[in-house]
Amino acid sequence: MTIIDGKKVSASVKEQVAEETKALKEKGIVPGLAVILVGDDPASRVYVNNKKKACELVGFKSEEFKLPAETTQDELLSLVDELNNRPDINGILCQLPLPKGLDENAVIEAISPLKDVDAFHKQNVGRIMIGDYDFLPCTPAGIMEMLKAYDISVDGKNCVVIGRSNIVGKPMAMLLLHQNGTVTICHSHTKNLSKITKNADILVAAVGVAKFVKADMVGEGAVVIDVGMNRDENGKLCGDVDFDNVKDKCSYITPVPGGVGPMTIATLMKNTLKAAKLQAGIE
Ligand code: GUN
Repeated sequence: MTIIDGKKVSASVKEQVAEETKALKEKGIVPGLAVILVGDDPASRVYVNNKKKACELVGFKSEEFKLPAETTQDELLSLVDELNNRPDINGILCQLPLPKGLDENAVIEAISPLKDVDAFHKQNVGRIMIGDYDFLPCTPAGIMEMLKAYDISVDGKNCVVIGRSNIVGKPMAMLLLHQNGTVTICHSHTKNLSKITKNADILVAAVGVAKFVKADMVGEGAVVIDVGMNRDENGKLCGDVDFDNVKDKCSYITPVPGGVGPMTIATLMKNTLKAAKLQAGIE
């Protein structure tokens, strides 16, 4: 059993981005990322801080817009509009979820597709669907990169994704399909879930429930990817997989923390670099 080191793979992706950023700077281009955080969700706060730190590390300019939970839809949309029009900002990310009362879809659609480094805009989602895209969604693309780094082939494999969110489950299934996986998407209405998950060569858990995937749901030798970020009964950070009991059945497994999370951020850096290049007419 191998524990996949997301931190290590992420560090090498960020190193590549930093190198390219250095070369861009010689042409007078500094990639800029705007990060919008509305309200004070503590988990979102941590994610946003990590994104800012990664920007510093690779040499991007990052600007944080911290808005109170009472922010109105109009105020948020007018900030997005301002950022869409700023030439020094290449990527715009609005951390989700938004506080109650704000319309996430409207905000996602308001972000210019050229600056949509999350790849959440329907124009970018549609392009991913047909395999002609500039940006890939950060978490699924980070997972694909991690599989590649460990020489884990998807071709012809039984891939099972638990979860059907627009952020992870649906795009994850599409990226696995692009690499010729045979993909099943499971969700809260799925019958005989463990019968399906047990058959998976590659199992991706994106449920949002602490330790949801138990040892009896996993087949011998499976590759298990844990997207979860939860707190267990003692308040300790844990994933969607019951790691201690599942790990010995796996050929590969990702830990939480230190697995998928750092890869999400590394992909965000790649997307922001790409956005800067596209907007400068380099790519
Ligand atoms: N919330 C959870 N994951 C993400 C992500 O990848 N991007 C944004 N913007 N919000 C998130």
